Amino acid sequence: MIYPIMSAAEAAEFVKNGDNVGVSGFTIPGNPKVVPAAVAARARAEHEAGREFKINLFSGASTNDYTDGELSRAHALNFRAPYQSLAEVRNRINAGEVHYSDRHLSEMAQEVRYGMYGKMDVAIVEAQSITDDGEIVLGTAVGNSPTWLQLAEKVIIEINDQIPESIHGLHDIYVPLDPPCRREIPIYKPSDRAGSPTAHVDPKKVVAVVKTSMPLGMPGGFTPLDDTTRKIGENVCAFLANEIKVGRMPKEFLPIQSGVGNIANAVLEGLEASTEIPAFQVYTEVMQDTFVKLLKSGRCQFVSTCSLTLSRDTMMDFFDNIKDLHDKVLMRPAEISNHPEIIRRLGVVSMNTAIEVDIFGNVNSSHVSGTRLMNGIGGSGDFTRNAYTSIFLCPSIKKDDCISTVVPMCTHIDHTLHSVDIIVTDQGVADLRGKDPIQCAHEIIEKVAHPTYRPLLREYLKLSKGGHVLMNPNLALSFHSALAATGDMRKTDYSHYQVD
Ligand code: COA
Repeated sequence: MIYPIMSAAEAAEFVKNGDNVGVSGFTIPGNPKVVPAAVAARARAEHEAGREFKINLFSGASTNDYTDGELSRAHALNFRAPYQSLAEVRNRINAGEVHYSDRHLSEMAQEVRYGMYGKMDVAIVEAQSITDDGEIVLGTAVGNSPTWLQLAEKVIIEINDQIPESIHGLHDIYVPLDPPCRREIPIYKPSDRAGSPTAHVDPKKVVAVVKTSMPLGMPGGFTPLDDTTRKIGENVCAFLANEIKVGRMPKEFLPIQSGVGNIANAVLEGLEASTEIPAFQVYTEVMQDTFVKLLKSGRCQFVSTCSLTLSRDTMMDFFDNIKDLHDKVLMRPAEISNHPEIIRRLGVVSMNTAIEVDIFGNVNSSHVSGTRLMNGIGGSGDFTRNAYTSIFLCPSIKKDDCISTVVPMCTHIDHTLHSVDIIVTDQGVADLRGKDPIQCAHEIIEKVAHPTYRPLLREYLKLSKGGHVLMNPNLALSFHSALAATGDMRKTDYSHYQVD
């Protein structure tokens, strides 16, 4: 190997205070695992010596504890984009310590290429291997690595010997040209390969190779389905089966996108069991555990993803069965897995989770009570805005009935009513297509709100005025005021309100 082989601590010396640093990976998989922790250790030492040391961290999506966790605990994060999901980072963002720019995941790489954030100083990329002429087999996620490798002045590669050689060929690396030279992206079905199995870096930029032996996959798994998540899954599948039956979706069905977590898992379990929905393909950003089962059973025919977001056991199972699964999976850059052009062309059916929805169909995915960041919008906007049919999922109530996820007005809006087609809760399915906002309000209240909250929502509507949309500015956040004051939205009280 022509590259300097170093310890993580030595490699971390290349990262300077104020640097823009791009890391590999997308969700927990594929992130670097030792160099960011060494950068964090450096930051601690610099802080102890009375010197400033913070970096601006760019990723594909959320990262792992070795990256976001270590760097945030060391107070080494100044700026963070485009997505995070760790409590420690979230708390520092909400406390104003870390500047966070919550961006559509498909746009992060191109925004950095366009120069919106200044130059990229360092890229830290986990890989399976690198050749002397700079061909890199990436790890278990692609994220924005191809762009970071193109742009960064200095590149640090972590070669993780736990990544099996059989991963070679699972990546499809394609970086679009920038306007005004961009061409169509040649993906016409989820299994089409647009680019190359390796990412490329100019060998002269590789300042360090760090050898690691770190476990792949995510610790833990999903909690088992409960009655609520199971019901949401059943409602989604019944809706999709009916769409096929009445001819609004083609009989061979359409590629689906689904997020991670228990609700997404419930939908996948429902799809596995369904006898009315044919075997299907997936065009998504994260391939979670259930997909491996579905690929093996043949219910799922192909998964295009950005990341193998698998638990440790399922990751091992995946690579144990790689001979049969190799031709059924492609991992692409976030820019491509989430690209509006392809999502629209393929007719992807999007399924994402909401924190809250309002009676007109606006969705809040990111800010609890309008101010406290939870994670971010992630890829939900990329998919929702461009989907064939966009679906939002959530339980109708949370926290022992004290929270209604259906509220008079969302406290923060990530997805406007113009992009939201269907809302599904454990109560049922609200179909917003072909309805005006007031018709949507009736549909949402009667079909998906929890019966406990329907009278309050109906009353809000009666107390509201307007034209195309109804609103009562004094009461629009009444559910949230009641929650803040009493911890219970059921305590919402309209009796003091005088109707004129
Ligand atoms: N009002 C007040 N608090 C609420 C709330 C509401 N309507 N909804 C959720 N919360 C609180 C919960 O009580 C919980 O708090 P706790 O941690 O103190 O218990 C917290 O917010 C998280 O809620 P939970 O229901 O556990 O979230 P989840 O794990 O089901 O995730 C999202 C839901 C929306 C946060 C998550 O799906 C997300 O981040 N989505 C955006 C990203 C995305 O969609 N990406 C694309 C697909 S990968």
